[in-house]
Amino acid sequence: MSASKLKTFKKLWPYLWPQNMPDAKTRLLLASVSLVLSKISVLIVPIIFKYAIDGLSEPKNLVVPIFLMILYGGMRLTSSLFSEIRDITFANVAQRTLRQVILRVFDHLHNLSLRFHLDRQTGGLTRIIERGTKAVETLVTFLTFNIIPTIVEIILVSAFLWVMYGMSFSIITLFTMLAYIVYTLKLTEWRIGYVREMNRTDVEAQTKAIDSLLNYETVKYFNNEAYEHNRLDESVKVYEKAAIQGRITLAYLNFGQVFIISIGLVLVMGLAAQGVINKTMTVGDIVAVNTFLIQLYIPLFNLGFAYREIKLGLVNIEEMFQLLSETLEIKDAEQAKPLEIKGGEICFDKVSFHYQSNREILKNISFIVPAGKTLAIVGSSGAGKSTLSRLLFRFYDVTNGSICIDGQDIHSITQKSLRRAIGVVPQDTVLFNDTILYNIAYGRPDAAFEEIMKVAQQARIHDFIQSLPDGYETRVGERGLKLSGGEKQRVAIARTLLKDPKIFLFDEATSSLDTRTEKAIQENLREVSKNHTTIIIAHRLSTIIDADQIIVLEKGEIVERGTHQELLAKKSTYALMWKRQQEHKGKEIYS
Ligand SMILES: Nc1ncnc2c1ncn2[C@@H]1O[C@H](COP(=O)(O)OP(=O)(O)OP(=O)(O)O)[C@@H](O)[C@H]1O
Ligand SMILES: [Mg+2]
Repeated sequence: MSASKLKTFKKLWPYLWPQNMPDAKTRLLLASVSLVLSKISVLIVPIIFKYAIDGLSEPKNLVVPIFLMILYGGMRLTSSLFSEIRDITFANVAQRTLRQVILRVFDHLHNLSLRFHLDRQTGGLTRIIERGTKAVETLVTFLTFNIIPTIVEIILVSAFLWVMYGMSFSIITLFTMLAYIVYTLKLTEWRIGYVREMNRTDVEAQTKAIDSLLNYETVKYFNNEAYEHNRLDESVKVYEKAAIQGRITLAYLNFGQVFIISIGLVLVMGLAAQGVINKTMTVGDIVAVNTFLIQLYIPLFNLGFAYREIKLGLVNIEEMFQLLSETLEIKDAEQAKPLEIKGGEICFDKVSFHYQSNREILKNISFIVPAGKTLAIVGSSGAGKSTLSRLLFRFYDVTNGSICIDGQDIHSITQKSLRRAIGVVPQDTVLFNDTILYNIAYGRPDAAFEEIMKVAQQARIHDFIQSLPDGYETRVGERGLKLSGGEKQRVAIARTLLKDPKIFLFDEATSSLDTRTEKAIQENLREVSKNHTTIIIAHRLSTIIDADQIIVLEKGEIVERGTHQELLAKKSTYALMWKRQQEHKGKEIYS
């Protein structure tokens, strides 16, 4: 095993040997004792066998052999009992370890920045976690239920043989074992490439099939069924080849293993036969030795499989641990205090920002939204409006300048308190694949149903929900795709209202709605956000004419600011936008 694998193992150790779970160690101890006891019971079986057979071959009375037969059954039972005890005690520790690992990775992923998550495919992340945790489970299982018990058994059998029949038996057995293990590991090493290829192509074929079915409509639009068929076939073909190779190499492995065992058995049997001829051993001894060895080889058959799984598993675990060592981009400052919210005044002071250093997105942005007032941000697509909202929510840190809420730099307060204070209705709403009720309640999971209905009414979605056959229990589908764009937006507004933050941030929150519904919601929102500081990002200027201040953003810079009337009077960018939209609106009415 290479050094890096050992390192992975070391990182895993604290989970396997938990520090803060006192009863885990007791359990491990109990499991180990049970392990040894069960193995000893197994080893007594061949010895009972021997005495029974010897007793039967010269039957003087039948009592002893019958008693031995019963004891034989009893020992088998005892062994099974101890091994079940071992498995149960251990399963407890193993499962808890697994739970800790899963939660640790999951929490860490939620702490990583938006930038990290946008760069990664969520599917890829879940697969890493799935494979990693599965690998931890496999590793623990094989180690405790297979490898360690087998090692214990080899040692015990060798000792037994030595004591009962002399050194040569024990040495032949040990050598056979050694040859068997070395051969298995070497051959498994050679097979790993094929097995890996098999797994890889299997996943690839699966992904292709899923992707193709997800794009069902697109496939039909372009009549590309045959194309998809061939694409899938390419992966399956490679899989087919790898699978056949895998089977052939498995045959080599199995046959070689049996070959080595047979040689060992023949040697030991020969030795035993000689013992019988020399009258130093009985027929019962031959049976006992044979049983010893066969019993020993059975668990070894799985060794190659276990070795491969552990080896591949360590790679997967390493991949998962790599996620854990991913550094956090957005961190609470050392002495971060919770935000002390008063009126909710927001202040951007000379803020500059870029996602990648070669492309400036926001340049020197300064503005103040006084407590309880409303700011509207307008501007063409890509100007940086949503970016402003992400900075306020601290999904990213500003490159230059600072953002303050009630005079406290958001850099120096805890993220939790900051995010508690701000309610965002984002531009693209994604819903959880659950019921409408669940999705609205997400704003405040402990809210009463009456409160949920109230915010649904304010967001003008209550009547629609009531009209559905399943009402609030209607499921919204993956990412909420069973709802229309406007319905989704209203669910998003409702859940943000339920959160009841001090500051509201609506990013095109009503853009998918028809003008009438939009007007109605806007009136409600104005009512709700009366004493709240509000930032509205909008394309449709008619929705923001009442804002206390309007900022026009172009290519990351503020080009104009003022109230609706002031900006119209300027007869510049805003006035032009307004004029264009008014013309457009005329068309909308008559079409
Ligand atoms: N994660 C990101 N990484 C790199 N560039 C980004 C990222 N997110 C946004 N951008 C870029 O930043 C610019 C501003 O994006 P932003 O989403 O703030 O625009 P916007 O004003 O909200 O536009 P729209 O009105 O279309 O929503 C865009 O040119 C966009 O391509
Ligand atoms: Mg945007």
